[in-house]
Order: sequence, then structure tokens, then C-alpha cells
Amino acid sequence: MNFALTPLDLRSLISEKTDALLVLLTSAFTPQKDALSTLIAKVIKSGDLTPKTGQMLDIYRPQGMACTRLLLLHVGEGGGVEVRKAVSAAYGVLKPLKPKALILCFLRQPAAPALRAAVTTLADVSYAYTLTKSKPEGRSIHKVTCVLPDDQARRVDFNRAVAAVAGIELAKEWGNRPANHATPKHLAQAAQDLAELPKIKCEVLGPKEVAKLGMGAFQAVAQGSDEPLRFIVLQYSGAPKSKAPVVLVGKGITFDSGGISIKPAAEMDEMKYDMCGAASVLGVFRALADLQPGINVVGLIPACENLPSGRSVKPGDVITSMNGQTIEVLNTDAEGRLVLCDALTYSERFKPQAVLDIATLTGACVIALGAVRSAFFTSDETISAALLKAGESSQDLCWRMPLDDDYAEGLKTQFADVANVAGRPGGAITAAKFLQRFTDKFPWAHLDIAGTAWKGGAAKGATGRPVGLLVDYLMDLEAPGNKT
Ligand code: BES
Ligand code: MN
Ligand code: ZN
Repeated sequence: MNFALTPLDLRSLISEKTDALLVLLTSAFTPQKDALSTLIAKVIKSGDLTPKTGQMLDIYRPQGMACTRLLLLHVGEGGGVEVRKAVSAAYGVLKPLKPKALILCFLRQPAAPALRAAVTTLADVSYAYTLTKSKPEGRSIHKVTCVLPDDQARRVDFNRAVAAVAGIELAKEWGNRPANHATPKHLAQAAQDLAELPKIKCEVLGPKEVAKLGMGAFQAVAQGSDEPLRFIVLQYSGAPKSKAPVVLVGKGITFDSGGISIKPAAEMDEMKYDMCGAASVLGVFRALADLQPGINVVGLIPACENLPSGRSVKPGDVITSMNGQTIEVLNTDAEGRLVLCDALTYSERFKPQAVLDIATLTGACVIALGAVRSAFFTSDETISAALLKAGESSQDLCWRMPLDDDYAEGLKTQFADVANVAGRPGGAITAAKFLQRFTDKFPWAHLDIAGTAWKGGAAKGATGRPVGLLVDYLMDLEAPGNKT
């Protein structure tokens, strides 16, 4: 989908041939002398459009205008949430008409959140998965033109929104692909394809190299499957080498059956989404290639399947992680933390300014925060504030969770340095406490996206979260005055 940004010129807007012209109205609307304003004023006066968020009027071939349809959308005060609601309602009307091009017009200059919401929502609602359909029906919209009074004033926000959308869509696409079409090898190929883009490099390690590195925890998870593991290393170099990078670690379990501690059959298919952390890292690199910020970013993806077999790791087995800690695997379904801990140790070599891991890590996180906010855990106040801010600006929200040492009590065992599970209470937190043991060498945050990375039920599908959040987090690091 192509996005363009142009300044508002009512005369040319009226004569623009397009499948649909969406006009976003706020409560602050004051009519001018042009034909469109006059029409809107009439419509409001007549009561045909209630001035309330989500209310709309759909007009076919409006007189004196060149568009096929005019949709007047009320967006209340014009906040991000209101724009999202209105745009998604409007798409509901337009979808069956299969529009190819649309114009999204703000009559009053939108604040940054309104524009971000319009771009991301339109992309989100019009996304169509096609890879494994025999008669693919892709998205009909090819071109979206955003029109606003002062386009230059919002150029930077617009570019960021459009780049974030490209990243979100890549993450969604990989998240949605069935596990037999998104194996560790496929993910590695996707990363290698990204290395065609400017300033991006990619290196892929296989089982031999991973064994040589001593990643015993990662290997233990992968060993039950015939599909060989991949360890993906992406690098975006937008700044001199001397500048410490941010490392993003994405959980890449391409299918999580639970292993020997096998999961129940119901909804097990959804465990194809257990690589959404990895997909979000791919998405962020896609966005970085567009935005070209002056920072360095490393992406690490431990990718493998978690399956039961005669070679699988068994409950009670003790394995040794890359940094020498022994781990008693009490539950083979707590595999995410095992692949992540070795990737965290690997990230030490980059002497990072910060390491963020992103993982569909625990069902307990879904219980704690649902699908609205991703959870994050950190003991670093700077990262915490930056993540909360990025969540707000990207409208991809997150929430801080605790890391008190008392939560680690349940991970104690007689048979190893640490167990891979504690009891059920506080399951998202005890998982974070496990990971924290591998983060002594750098500032760190863990994002649990189990509740936010995909939707179940009728609208089943990956959301592309938290690509928007991560893009804003990284772009804000570049801004002058921020610590490097
Ligand atoms: N991938 C799952 C987490 C998950 C479960 C995400 C359901 C979304 C929905 C993870 O590998 C897992 O199985 N975690 C276990 C941990 C438990 C054994 C301590 C869980 O949450 O049940
Ligand atoms: Mn699991
Ligand atoms: Zn998992």
C-alpha cells in the first residue's frame, strides 16, 4: 500500500477523481466558503451527521465533486483513539466496494497522534493474508493520499507512521504464516532478504556454530525437532562503530507444542504465533531501512521448533547455558526463556547500550494485562520511561511490571543453579526473573507480548505489535539531547 502526503487545497480536492474521499471532522469544524464546507455545514445542521466520534455519512457521487463516494467522519476532539475508531468504521463501509484509491482529508491540522492513528488503522484494517490461499484475494487499496492543511509540519510524523506500517505488515505476515511455511530456515531467509536494504547486514548460524558457542539451553529446545535451528544476527549500522548499539532479541519459536510437557489440543494451532517476537525484530529492521536513523541496532533471533520426540529434552533434565549456568528443565513448555537466555548472553559481545528482548513468553501475561498493553520488565528507569513514552506516541501501549527478587524464590532447585519454572502465581514475573539472571552486563528490558502479538477467535491474526512501540523507542534515542 502506498501512502502520500499532500497539502490541502479545497478546489483540487473537490475535482479529484478517487474511489472514496474520507473527510475527518472535529468538533472544531468551522465552515469556509467552499462547496465542501457548505455541504458539511448543511449536513450537520440537518442532523444527518451527529457530531460524535464514529458517526459518519456516506454520500454517493456528491454533486459538484469528482469522487465516487464522500464519507464524512466525525472524530470528536480528533484524538488518536477517536480517529482509529472512525477510520475503522469507515473501512467497514468501504470494504465491500473494494476501493483502489482513497483520500483521507483532515480539514483542520491534525496533531501527530491523529495522523499516526489514521495511517496505522487504515493499513491494519485493510491487511489481507494470502500466502496459502489457492485463490488469493489481496487488499484492494493501493494508494492512500493523506491531505492536511500544513503537510510539511507533519512530514516527519508521517514518514515515521508509514515506515512503522511497513514494519508492522512484515511482522504480521510472518506471524500469520503457518508453521510449515515459517520454519527457522524461512525466518533466516526473511532476515537475509532484509540485508538487501541499505545499512543492513545479516549473518545466520546453524546447529554446528550454535553448538560451538555453547548455547546448551537453545540447543536443548531445538533438539526434539527434525527442523534444524537457526540463530539470526541482523545489524543496522546508522552510526559510527564506536556508538554502542541497542540489541533487540526476538523469541523465534516457530511452533510451540510444549515439547514433552505437551500442550492441550485446543488452540494449539495458535502456537504458530510463538515467533511473533522474532517477527517484530524483522519488522523493526524493515522500518529502520526506511527511516535511516543515526543509531546502531542489532537484532538477534534464536529460531527453532519445540516438539516432542525421542530426542526431546525431558522434564528433570539439566542443561548448561552459554554463560555456564546449569538449568533444570522442569517443564519443557517453558522453552522461550531457554532460547532467550543464550541469545542474551550472546548479546554481551556487542557491548550494548541497552538490550530489549521481545517474546510471547507466558500465558500468565495474557491473564495479567489482556490484549491491551504489552508487559515490560526492567530495573532501568531510563528505559522504563522511554518505553512508556514510545508506547503512548505509537499508540502501541505497554505497562511496567515488577522485578522484586522475592519473585525468584520459586526458581530455586537442588539439582541445578536455577529451574526453568516456578509455580503458577506471578508466572510472567518469574519468567522475567529467570531471564534477568543473564543480563548482568547491560541495561535490559524484557517485553512479554503474549497478549498483544496476535488476536484469537473470529478475527484471528497477528497484530504486528510491538513494532510501532519499538520504532518510536529507537527513533527517540536518535533525537538530540537523548543519552547515547
Ligand atoms: N509460548 C508460550 C506462552 C503462551 C501461551 C503465549 C499461551 C500465549 C498464549 C510459552 O512457551 C509457554 O508455554 N509458557 C508456559 C510457561 C509455563 C510452563 C511456566 C505457560 O505460559 O503456560
Ligand atoms: Mn511453551
Ligand atoms: Zn513458547
